[in-house]
Amino acid sequence: MTPAITILAIESSCDDTSAAVIEDGYVLSNLIANQEIHKAFGGVVPELASRAHQANIIPVVDQALSRAGKRPEDISAVAFTRGPGLLGSLLVGTSFAKGFALVRNIPIIEVNHLQAHVMAHFAMEHGRDNRIPGFPFLCLLVSGGHTQLILMKDHCSMELLGNTIDDAAGEAFDKCAKVMGLPYPGGPVIDRLAREGNPDAFIFSKPKIQGLNFSFSGLKTSFLYFLRDKMKEDGDFITKNINDLAASLQRTIIEILIAKLIRASKETGISEIGIAGGVSANSGLRNTAVREAAKRRWNLFLPEFRYTTDNAAMIGITGYYKFLRSDFSDHSVTPLARMAVETNHTE
Ligand code: KG4
Ligand code: ZN
Repeated sequence: MTPAITILAIESSCDDTSAAVIEDGYVLSNLIANQEIHKAFGGVVPELASRAHQANIIPVVDQALSRAGKRPEDISAVAFTRGPGLLGSLLVGTSFAKGFALVRNIPIIEVNHLQAHVMAHFAMEHGRDNRIPGFPFLCLLVSGGHTQLILMKDHCSMELLGNTIDDAAGEAFDKCAKVMGLPYPGGPVIDRLAREGNPDAFIFSKPKIQGLNFSFSGLKTSFLYFLRDKMKEDGDFITKNINDLAASLQRTIIEILIAKLIRASKETGISEIGIAGGVSANSGLRNTAVREAAKRRWNLFLPEFRYTTDNAAMIGITGYYKFLRSDFSDHSVTPLARMAVETNHTE
Protein backbone atom coordinates (compact mmCIF):
# COMPACT_ATOMS: atom_id res chain seq x y z
CA MET A 1 0.00 0.00 0.00
CA THR A 2 1.38 3.44 -0.92
CA PRO A 3 1.65 5.76 2.09
CA ALA A 4 -0.97 8.50 2.42
CA ILE A 5 -0.14 12.00 1.20
CA THR A 6 -1.04 14.30 4.09
CA ILE A 7 -0.84 18.03 3.47
CA LEU A 8 -0.94 20.74 6.12
CA ALA A 9 -2.29 23.90 4.46
CA ILE A 10 -2.07 27.52 5.60
CA GLU A 11 -4.08 30.47 4.26
CA SER A 12 -3.32 34.00 5.50
CA SER A 13 -3.75 36.27 2.47
CA CYS A 14 -6.20 38.74 3.98
CA ASP A 15 -8.01 38.83 7.32
CA ASP A 16 -8.77 35.14 7.95
CA THR A 17 -6.18 32.82 9.50
CA SER A 18 -6.95 29.31 8.32
CA ALA A 19 -5.31 25.89 8.56
CA ALA A 20 -6.46 22.59 7.07
CA VAL A 21 -5.32 18.99 6.77
CA ILE A 22 -5.92 17.23 3.45
CA GLU A 23 -5.21 13.53 3.00
CA ASP A 24 -5.21 11.98 -0.47
CA GLY A 25 -7.52 14.73 -1.72
CA TYR A 26 -9.95 14.49 1.23
CA VAL A 27 -10.45 17.35 3.70
CA LEU A 28 -9.87 16.03 7.23
CA SER A 29 -10.09 19.42 8.95
CA ASN A 30 -10.49 23.08 7.96
CA LEU A 31 -10.24 25.71 10.70
CA ILE A 32 -10.78 29.44 10.22
CA ALA A 33 -10.13 32.24 12.73
CA ASN A 34 -11.92 35.41 11.63
CA GLN A 35 -10.58 38.79 12.66
CA GLU A 36 -13.47 40.76 14.16
CA ILE A 37 -11.17 43.71 14.83
CA HIS A 38 -11.59 45.15 11.29
CA LYS A 39 -15.36 45.68 11.66
CA ALA A 40 -14.76 48.85 13.69
CA PHE A 41 -12.77 50.32 10.78
CA GLY A 42 -15.19 49.45 7.95
CA GLY A 43 -12.51 47.47 6.09
CA VAL A 44 -9.36 45.43 6.58
CA VAL A 45 -6.46 47.28 8.26
CA PRO A 46 -3.31 45.52 6.93
CA GLU A 47 -1.13 46.12 9.99
CA LEU A 48 -3.79 44.80 12.38
CA ALA A 49 -4.36 41.81 10.09
CA SER A 50 -0.72 40.66 10.21
CA ARG A 51 -0.60 41.03 13.99
CA ALA A 52 -3.78 38.98 14.37
CA HIS A 53 -2.37 36.28 12.02
CA GLN A 54 0.69 36.05 14.28
CA ALA A 55 -1.49 35.56 17.33
CA ASN A 56 -3.81 33.06 15.61
CA ILE A 57 -1.59 30.87 13.48
CA ILE A 58 -0.19 28.45 16.08
CA PRO A 59 -3.53 27.73 17.84
CA VAL A 60 -5.31 27.37 14.47
CA VAL A 61 -2.71 24.89 13.13
CA ASP A 62 -2.81 23.02 16.43
CA GLN A 63 -6.60 22.66 16.19
CA ALA A 64 -6.47 21.65 12.51
CA LEU A 65 -4.01 18.86 13.33
CA SER A 66 -5.91 17.58 16.35
CA ARG A 67 -9.32 17.66 14.59
CA ALA A 68 -7.75 15.66 11.75
CA GLY A 69 -6.29 13.22 14.30
CA LYS A 70 -2.78 13.90 12.96
CA ARG A 71 0.58 14.64 14.59
CA PRO A 72 3.20 16.94 13.01
CA GLU A 73 5.25 13.83 12.05
CA ASP A 74 2.32 12.54 9.92
CA ILE A 75 2.53 15.55 7.56
CA SER A 76 4.07 14.96 4.10
CA ALA A 77 4.32 18.63 2.99
CA VAL A 78 3.15 22.14 3.92
CA ALA A 79 1.14 24.14 1.37
CA PHE A 80 0.79 27.90 1.87
CA THR A 81 -0.68 30.90 0.06
CA ARG A 82 2.10 32.77 -1.71
CA GLY A 83 -0.20 35.47 -3.11
CA PRO A 84 -2.01 37.55 -4.17
CA GLY A 85 -2.91 39.31 -0.93
CA LEU A 86 -1.65 41.63 1.78
CA LEU A 87 2.12 41.29 2.01
CA GLY A 88 2.33 41.41 5.82
CA SER A 89 -0.42 38.80 6.15
CA LEU A 90 1.13 36.50 3.53
CA LEU A 91 4.49 36.78 5.27
CA VAL A 92 3.09 35.25 8.48
CA GLY A 93 1.74 32.15 6.67
CA THR A 94 4.82 31.78 4.47
CA SER A 95 7.24 32.03 7.41
CA PHE A 96 5.22 29.57 9.46
CA ALA A 97 5.12 27.07 6.56
CA LYS A 98 8.89 27.32 6.08
CA GLY A 99 9.60 26.90 9.80
CA PHE A 100 7.29 23.90 10.18
CA ALA A 101 8.75 22.22 7.08
CA LEU A 102 12.38 22.91 8.03
CA VAL A 103 11.98 21.30 11.43
CA ARG A 104 10.38 18.18 9.93
CA ASN A 105 12.52 18.18 6.77
CA ILE A 106 9.50 18.02 4.46
CA PRO A 107 8.77 20.00 1.25
CA ILE A 108 6.86 23.29 1.02
CA ILE A 109 4.37 24.01 -1.76
CA GLU A 110 3.44 27.57 -2.75
CA VAL A 111 -0.16 28.04 -3.81
CA ASN A 112 -1.75 30.80 -5.89
CA HIS A 113 -4.80 32.00 -3.93
CA LEU A 114 -6.85 32.58 -7.11
CA GLN A 115 -6.20 29.08 -8.43
CA ALA A 116 -7.11 27.75 -5.00
CA HIS A 117 -10.57 29.38 -5.07
CA VAL A 118 -11.29 27.48 -8.31
CA MET A 119 -9.68 24.29 -6.96
CA ALA A 120 -12.10 24.35 -4.00
CA HIS A 121 -14.44 22.49 -6.37
CA PHE A 122 -12.11 19.49 -6.20
CA ALA A 123 -12.09 19.21 -2.39
CA MET A 124 -13.55 15.85 -1.37
CA GLU A 125 -14.99 14.88 2.00
CA HIS A 126 -15.48 11.44 3.53
CA GLY A 127 -19.09 10.35 3.92
CA ARG A 128 -20.34 12.68 1.19
CA ASP A 129 -21.28 12.18 -2.44
CA ASN A 130 -18.32 14.01 -4.01
CA ARG A 131 -19.34 15.61 -7.32
CA ILE A 132 -16.23 16.90 -9.10
CA PRO A 133 -16.04 18.94 -12.36
CA GLY A 134 -14.58 17.44 -15.52
CA PHE A 135 -12.12 19.27 -17.81
CA PRO A 136 -12.21 21.72 -19.45
CA PHE A 137 -13.92 23.57 -16.61
CA LEU A 138 -15.08 27.19 -16.84
CA CYS A 139 -15.23 29.07 -13.53
CA LEU A 140 -16.43 32.53 -12.58
CA LEU A 141 -14.23 33.67 -9.68
CA VAL A 142 -15.88 36.46 -7.73
CA SER A 143 -14.24 37.69 -4.53
CA GLY A 144 -13.46 40.89 -2.66
CA GLY A 145 -10.37 41.50 -4.76
CA HIS A 146 -11.02 39.68 -8.05
CA THR A 147 -13.64 39.11 -10.73
CA GLN A 148 -12.35 36.71 -13.34
CA LEU A 149 -13.44 34.12 -15.86
CA ILE A 150 -11.03 31.20 -15.67
CA LEU A 151 -10.63 28.26 -18.01
CA MET A 152 -9.18 25.24 -16.27
CA LYS A 153 -7.53 22.64 -18.51
CA ASP A 154 -6.35 20.31 -15.78
CA HIS A 155 -5.69 20.47 -12.01
CA CYS A 156 -2.60 22.62 -12.43
CA SER A 157 -3.17 24.69 -15.54
CA MET A 158 -5.46 27.69 -15.81
CA GLU A 159 -6.06 30.40 -18.38
CA LEU A 160 -7.54 33.84 -17.73
CA LEU A 161 -10.37 34.57 -20.18
CA GLY A 162 -11.77 37.73 -18.61
CA ASN A 163 -10.98 40.13 -15.79
CA THR A 164 -12.33 43.27 -14.17
CA ILE A 165 -10.83 46.47 -15.51
CA ASP A 166 -11.47 48.29 -12.20
CA ASP A 167 -13.33 47.13 -9.06
CA ALA A 168 -14.16 43.54 -8.17
CA ALA A 169 -17.77 42.37 -7.70
CA GLY A 170 -17.20 41.92 -3.94
CA GLU A 171 -15.84 45.46 -3.77
CA ALA A 172 -19.00 46.73 -5.47
CA PHE A 173 -21.10 44.99 -2.81
CA ASP A 174 -18.89 46.26 0.03
CA LYS A 175 -18.52 49.86 -1.19
CA CYS A 176 -22.23 50.29 -1.99
CA ALA A 177 -23.08 48.79 1.40
CA LYS A 178 -20.81 51.34 3.07
CA VAL A 179 -22.60 54.18 1.24
CA MET A 180 -25.86 52.87 2.73
CA GLY A 181 -24.29 52.84 6.21
CA LEU A 182 -24.17 49.02 6.42
CA PRO A 183 -21.35 47.19 8.26
CA TYR A 184 -18.30 45.55 6.63
CA PRO A 185 -18.26 43.20 4.82
CA GLY A 186 -21.37 44.42 3.05
CA GLY A 187 -21.91 41.50 0.66
CA PRO A 188 -23.58 39.12 3.11
CA VAL A 189 -25.67 41.99 4.58
CA ILE A 190 -26.96 43.03 1.14
CA ASP A 191 -27.71 39.38 0.38
CA ARG A 192 -29.86 39.14 3.53
CA LEU A 193 -31.70 42.46 2.97
CA ALA A 194 -32.26 41.67 -0.72
CA ARG A 195 -34.38 38.65 0.19
CA GLU A 196 -37.04 41.04 1.56
CA GLY A 197 -36.77 43.57 -1.28
CA ASN A 198 -38.02 44.14 -4.83
CA PRO A 199 -35.18 43.66 -7.37
CA ASP A 200 -37.11 45.74 -9.95
CA ALA A 201 -37.67 48.74 -7.64
CA PHE A 202 -34.70 50.74 -8.99
CA ILE A 203 -32.82 50.48 -12.27
CA PHE A 204 -29.06 51.04 -12.35
CA SER A 205 -27.24 51.19 -15.67
CA LYS A 206 -24.88 48.39 -16.59
CA PRO A 207 -21.43 48.92 -18.14
CA LYS A 208 -20.78 48.23 -21.80
CA ILE A 209 -17.45 46.44 -21.73
CA GLN A 210 -16.09 44.54 -24.71
CA GLY A 211 -15.38 40.81 -24.67
CA LEU A 212 -15.24 38.89 -21.42
CA ASN A 213 -14.02 41.70 -19.17
CA PHE A 214 -15.99 43.31 -16.35
CA SER A 215 -16.32 46.78 -14.82
CA PHE A 216 -17.97 47.77 -11.54
CA SER A 217 -16.66 51.24 -10.70
CA GLY A 218 -19.35 52.98 -12.82
CA LEU A 219 -22.12 51.16 -10.98
CA LYS A 220 -20.62 52.18 -7.62
CA THR A 221 -20.47 55.84 -8.68
CA SER A 222 -23.97 55.94 -10.16
CA PHE A 223 -25.32 54.24 -7.02
CA LEU A 224 -23.61 56.91 -4.88
CA TYR A 225 -25.03 59.83 -6.96
CA PHE A 226 -28.49 58.25 -7.08
CA LEU A 227 -28.56 58.03 -3.27
CA ARG A 228 -27.18 61.55 -2.84
CA ASP A 229 -29.99 62.99 -5.02
CA LYS A 230 -32.70 60.95 -3.30
CA MET A 231 -31.42 61.84 0.17
CA LYS A 232 -31.69 65.56 -0.73
CA GLU A 233 -35.41 65.01 -1.36
CA ASP A 234 -35.95 62.76 1.65
CA GLY A 235 -33.38 62.31 4.44
CA ASP A 236 -34.89 58.93 5.32
CA PHE A 237 -34.77 57.56 1.76
CA ILE A 238 -32.14 54.89 2.50
CA THR A 239 -33.81 53.66 5.69
CA LYS A 240 -37.24 53.51 4.04
CA ASN A 241 -35.98 51.68 0.93
CA ILE A 242 -33.07 49.63 2.25
CA ASN A 243 -34.44 46.23 1.18
CA ASP A 244 -35.39 47.42 -2.33
CA LEU A 245 -32.03 49.17 -2.74
CA ALA A 246 -30.18 46.00 -1.72
CA ALA A 247 -32.30 43.81 -4.02
CA SER A 248 -31.96 46.15 -7.03
CA LEU A 249 -28.22 46.57 -6.57
CA GLN A 250 -27.71 42.82 -6.15
CA ARG A 251 -29.78 42.09 -9.23
CA THR A 252 -27.64 44.49 -11.31
CA ILE A 253 -24.35 42.94 -10.11
CA ILE A 254 -25.67 39.42 -10.80
CA GLU A 255 -26.85 40.36 -14.30
CA ILE A 256 -23.42 41.79 -15.17
CA LEU A 257 -21.70 38.61 -13.93
CA ILE A 258 -24.06 36.06 -15.46
CA ALA A 259 -24.14 37.77 -18.88
CA LYS A 260 -20.37 37.30 -19.20
CA LEU A 261 -20.47 33.75 -17.90
CA ILE A 262 -23.06 32.86 -20.56
CA ARG A 263 -20.94 34.55 -23.20
CA ALA A 264 -17.80 32.69 -22.10
CA SER A 265 -19.63 29.37 -22.19
CA LYS A 266 -20.92 30.09 -25.70
CA GLU A 267 -17.52 31.22 -26.99
CA THR A 268 -15.61 28.25 -25.55
CA GLY A 269 -18.35 25.65 -25.97
CA ILE A 270 -17.75 24.54 -22.37
CA SER A 271 -20.71 23.42 -20.27
CA GLU A 272 -18.83 22.27 -17.14
CA ILE A 273 -19.44 25.52 -15.24
CA GLY A 274 -18.71 26.71 -11.71
CA ILE A 275 -18.68 29.79 -9.54
CA ALA A 276 -16.13 30.39 -6.78
CA GLY A 277 -14.89 33.00 -4.28
CA GLY A 278 -16.60 34.94 -1.49
CA VAL A 279 -19.38 36.37 -3.70
CA SER A 280 -20.32 32.84 -4.85
CA ALA A 281 -22.02 32.55 -1.42
CA ASN A 282 -24.60 35.08 -2.67
CA SER A 283 -28.02 33.43 -2.73
CA GLY A 284 -29.23 35.51 -5.69
CA LEU A 285 -26.17 34.60 -7.77
CA ARG A 286 -26.54 30.92 -6.87
CA ASN A 287 -30.25 30.88 -7.78
CA THR A 288 -29.62 32.68 -11.08
CA ALA A 289 -26.79 30.27 -11.95
CA VAL A 290 -29.07 27.29 -11.24
CA ARG A 291 -31.81 28.78 -13.48
CA GLU A 292 -29.37 29.45 -16.33
CA ALA A 293 -27.83 25.98 -15.95
CA ALA A 294 -31.23 24.34 -16.40
CA LYS A 295 -31.94 26.49 -19.48
CA ARG A 296 -28.53 25.96 -21.07
CA ARG A 297 -27.81 22.37 -19.99
CA TRP A 298 -24.78 23.33 -17.98
CA ASN A 299 -23.28 20.83 -15.56
CA LEU A 300 -23.18 23.42 -12.76
CA PHE A 301 -20.95 23.35 -9.67
CA LEU A 302 -21.80 25.57 -6.71
CA PRO A 303 -19.22 25.43 -3.91
CA GLU A 304 -20.24 24.45 -0.37
CA PHE A 305 -20.60 27.66 1.69
CA ARG A 306 -17.55 26.77 3.83
CA TYR A 307 -15.42 26.78 0.66
CA THR A 308 -16.67 30.10 -0.77
CA THR A 309 -14.77 32.57 1.44
CA ASP A 310 -11.06 32.29 2.22
CA ASN A 311 -10.15 28.89 3.71
CA ALA A 312 -7.10 26.64 3.92
CA ALA A 313 -8.87 23.55 2.53
CA MET A 314 -8.71 25.09 -0.97
CA ILE A 315 -4.98 25.75 -0.46
CA GLY A 316 -4.48 22.15 0.67
CA ILE A 317 -6.33 20.60 -2.25
CA THR A 318 -4.26 22.68 -4.69
CA GLY A 319 -1.14 21.66 -2.76
CA TYR A 320 -2.14 18.01 -3.02
CA TYR A 321 -2.26 18.10 -6.84
CA LYS A 322 1.05 19.98 -6.93
CA PHE A 323 2.53 17.34 -4.60
CA LEU A 324 1.51 14.62 -7.07
CA ARG A 325 3.63 16.45 -9.68
CA SER A 326 6.50 17.02 -7.22
CA ASP A 327 5.97 20.74 -7.80
CA PHE A 328 7.72 21.91 -4.62
CA SER A 329 9.11 25.34 -3.75
CA ASP A 330 12.54 26.40 -2.66
CA HIS A 331 12.93 28.05 0.77
CA SER A 332 14.01 31.25 -1.01
CA VAL A 333 10.37 31.75 -2.07
CA THR A 334 8.84 35.07 -0.93
CA PRO A 335 5.20 36.21 -0.82
CA LEU A 336 3.77 38.23 -3.72
CA ALA A 337 1.09 40.90 -3.24
CA ARG A 338 0.12 40.58 -6.91
CA MET A 339 -0.03 37.31 -8.80
CA ALA A 340 -1.82 36.30 -12.00
CA VAL A 341 -4.08 33.25 -12.05
CA GLU A 342 -1.70 31.50 -14.45
CA THR A 343 1.25 31.72 -12.04
CA ASN A 344 1.92 28.16 -10.94
CA HIS A 345 5.61 27.93 -10.19
CA THR A 346 8.53 29.47 -8.35
CA GLU A 347 10.55 31.83 -10.52
O1 KG4 B 1 -12.99 35.29 -1.37
P1 KG4 B 1 -13.15 36.21 -0.24
O2 KG4 B 1 -13.46 35.62 1.13
O3 KG4 B 1 -11.89 37.08 -0.01
C1 KG4 B 1 -11.12 37.56 -1.08
O4 KG4 B 1 -10.23 36.80 -1.53
O5 KG4 B 1 -11.43 38.69 -1.50
O6 KG4 B 1 -14.30 37.24 -0.63
C2 KG4 B 1 -14.75 38.28 0.22
C3 KG4 B 1 -15.84 39.03 -0.51
C4 KG4 B 1 -16.31 40.30 0.23
O7 KG4 B 1 -16.35 41.36 -0.71
C5 KG4 B 1 -17.71 39.94 0.72
O8 KG4 B 1 -18.58 41.06 0.83
C6 KG4 B 1 -18.17 38.99 -0.36
O9 KG4 B 1 -17.03 38.21 -0.64
N1 KG4 B 1 -19.28 38.12 0.07
C7 KG4 B 1 -20.54 38.22 -0.44
C8 KG4 B 1 -21.32 37.26 0.26
N2 KG4 B 1 -20.51 36.62 1.15
C9 KG4 B 1 -19.27 37.16 1.03
N3 KG4 B 1 -21.03 39.00 -1.40
C10 KG4 B 1 -22.33 38.87 -1.70
N4 KG4 B 1 -23.16 37.99 -1.08
C11 KG4 B 1 -22.70 37.17 -0.11
N5 KG4 B 1 -23.52 36.31 0.50
ZN1 ZN C 1 -10.12 34.84 -1.56
